[in-house]
Amino acid sequence: MASMTYKDLQVLYTREQIAARVAEIGAEITRDLNGEKLVMVGVLKGAAPFLADLARAVQVDATFDFVAVSSYGKGQRSSGAVKVIKDLDESVEGKNVLIVEDILDTGLTLSYLRKIILQHRPRSLRIAALLDKPSRRIEKIEADYVGFSIPNLFVIGYGMDYAERYRNLPDICIMSPDHPE
Ligand code: PRP
Repeated sequence: MASMTYKDLQVLYTREQIAARVAEIGAEITRDLNGEKLVMVGVLKGAAPFLADLARAVQVDATFDFVAVSSYGKGQRSSGAVKVIKDLDESVEGKNVLIVEDILDTGLTLSYLRKIILQHRPRSLRIAALLDKPSRRIEKIEADYVGFSIPNLFVIGYGMDYAERYRNLPDICIMSPDHPE
């Protein structure tokens, strides 16, 4: 990997660790579905790499859909103001839905999305979050599948950004507060 992107960044989870955990979660999802079909709903943009890998780790008949929610600053988001800016393309009524997220933080985004998707009356609704920061929770919500539970660190890579950059790092890294841009 080019040293440029990794300079001064501490790796929290390597691509190998991520791949191993994604494979485990994929096997769990496959078991839980018991041969039924699945709609994987990715939350743009951060969940894109996780969805792409997880989709290939499940052995089920799956389709994809994507939603986008308004991205207020984290400070403002704690007001609870989350808005859908790109809704599902297809109704998920009667279907098994898996919301795929890169990170579960305050829980405001997923609580809101869960409420919206439940209005479609899916057959089942589960959540997969690659990372979970339980110490940050404002809304009471848990993911059904969690990759790694982490303390309150600013993480980047594998879909997660700092000012839209670093999403393409293959490893999950820690952005220290004094990191020089
Ligand atoms: C991140 C992440 C979740 C949300 C989690 O999205 O992908 O959607 O924050 O935070 P919460 O639990 O506090 O609601 P972000 O707004 O950074 O958008 P992005 O996925 O486009 O990077």
